[in-house]
Amino acid sequence: MKTRLLTTVLIISAAAALAHGGVKNPDVLKRMDSMKATGEAMKVLGNMAKGLAPFDAETARAAATEVAEQAALTPALFDTQATDPKSEAKAVIWQEFADFTAKAEALESVAVDVSTSLDSAEDLGPALAELGSACKACHSVYRK
Ligand code: HEC
Repeated sequence: MKTRLLTTVLIISAAAALAHGGVKNPDVLKRMDSMKATGEAMKVLGNMAKGLAPFDAETARAAATEVAEQAALTPALFDTQATDPKSEAKAVIWQEFADFTAKAEALESVAVDVSTSLDSAEDLGPALAELGSACKACHSVYRK
């Protein structure tokens, strides 16, 4: 069981490394990996909402917790103004860092809410809409 879990983790990590092939700056890579983990967690919720995966409250809540945890890391991961040709981060992040941080905190707060309140498949749609708009609030300003 443990071995299989580890294998899965390794495969997922390898996929992440591949997707970011060519990124040289380690700080940029770290923040991209965190965003990627956020994206994967959203996909877990999205697949359940679409009926591609059966609804499971525990799995859904865990995915929301993952989003909250990654959002909590966001300000620290962007603290250094690291750049890379492959980065999609806009320089304005570091001129408006308080607002950038507030947007990460807003996502964290929505995700914590979802992680403690999601009970049924019917909750998925509204939860995804709220989470998605918190992603968009930041991406529309700070991501190329
Ligand atoms: C506080 C701002 C902020 C929030 C909130 C945010 N993001 Fe991001 N995200 C960024 C920035 C900036 C980048 C570009 C990073 C780079 O390329 O250096 C990014 C990049 C990404 C990427 C691309 C990562 C890669 O492989 O290069 C994904 C996927 C992503 N975000 C998903 C999400 C999802 C899903 C949410 C909401 C659940 C979210 N993000 C919320 C700022 C944010």
